[in-house]
Amino acid sequence: MNKKNKILITGGAGYIGSHTVVELQQKGHEVIIIDDLSNSNSSVIDAIEKITGIKPAFYNFNLCDKKELSTFFSKEKNIDAVIHFAAHKAVGESVNEPLKYYHNNLSSLINLLEEMKENNVKKIVFSSSCAVYGEPDRLPVNENAPLKKATSPYGNTKQINEDILSDTAKASNIRAISLRYFNPIGAHHSQLIGELPNGIPNNLAPFITQTAIGKREQLMVNGNDYNTPDGTCIRDYIHVVDIAKAHIIAIQRLLENKNKSSFEIFNLGTGRGNSVLEVIKSFEKVSGKKLNYKIVGRRVGDIEKIYADSTLASVELNWKADKTMDDMMLSAWEWEVKLAEK
Ligand code: UD1
Repeated sequence: MNKKNKILITGGAGYIGSHTVVELQQKGHEVIIIDDLSNSNSSVIDAIEKITGIKPAFYNFNLCDKKELSTFFSKEKNIDAVIHFAAHKAVGESVNEPLKYYHNNLSSLINLLEEMKENNVKKIVFSSSCAVYGEPDRLPVNENAPLKKATSPYGNTKQINEDILSDTAKASNIRAISLRYFNPIGAHHSQLIGELPNGIPNNLAPFITQTAIGKREQLMVNGNDYNTPDGTCIRDYIHVVDIAKAHIIAIQRLLENKNKSSFEIFNLGTGRGNSVLEVIKSFEKVSGKKLNYKIVGRRVGDIEKIYADSTLASVELNWKADKTMDDMMLSAWEWEVKLAEK
């Protein structure tokens, strides 16, 4: 184990954040969470403690509150690095409520970077998305692909956030890594943390498991008239723990000054594209349940197909996703079953 570092995780009670907190604690790092619980629950903090035996320090506020954030940094000294997850993330909602997305996702990063500069915190890993590519010309898509116009305000906030980071890194001693996730699904093998959306899920995997368990009546498959083999959209689904592990490597890279430029970008995907119907098929296979679904119209803001070329992450970070679609759907299902027992 390397030196024990003090890492701030914004959005640490959220889906990817909580899995990353667990991995960091298990590597011996001290973790502090800021989360406003807008799309999570304080029970996640207890669940993290159950897994690792360590209760992370937890501050409940929104990063747009600059005063709270300044007070936080004046209390919590000697933070070595930040992983910034906290953001709104529903593509469809962002189309209907763009200002909510621009305000929250941009102000929170700007406030965070200002406080980092003020308090001499120089390393940040940013939670980006394949949404920055828009509808790519060539697949699999790599980090050098030109960024097309994002198909949603959500995707646009990720593009702008990357520009903010890149410009800030150029003009200061802040060093940043942006991780562009494809579609994280699945849950921790302990079945103590997983995806826990408030209200009706926007994303496919929790909608499938909630339908199968009886919380939702029917899954709506958004469109079967896309130019794909079965007509449904194609995505690169990746296990959330594989994603979490990449953050540990990225943060270590920054802490050891092994980054090759002031702002680096890595795709995190499996390189495999699966259609919505293939995901459903995998779910039915591993759960033994028949899913109630129907085909409806396309969803606004959706792109047709995207999957990753993650060669750069494999060469530079020595990272590779190793879970299969069936592993992912099984873990998502076991988590849903466990939730229902509570
Ligand atoms: C998008 C982003 C992703 C981001 C995520 C955060 C893109 C390409 N990807 O994922 O980077 O991390 O938002 O939320 O913009 N679907 C249904 N019925 C449903 C729900 C989803 O058919 O009830 C379909 C969608 O049309 C899509 C696929 O399932 O084809 C995956 O959707 P979802 O899980 O919401 O993720 P993305 O929108 O791809």
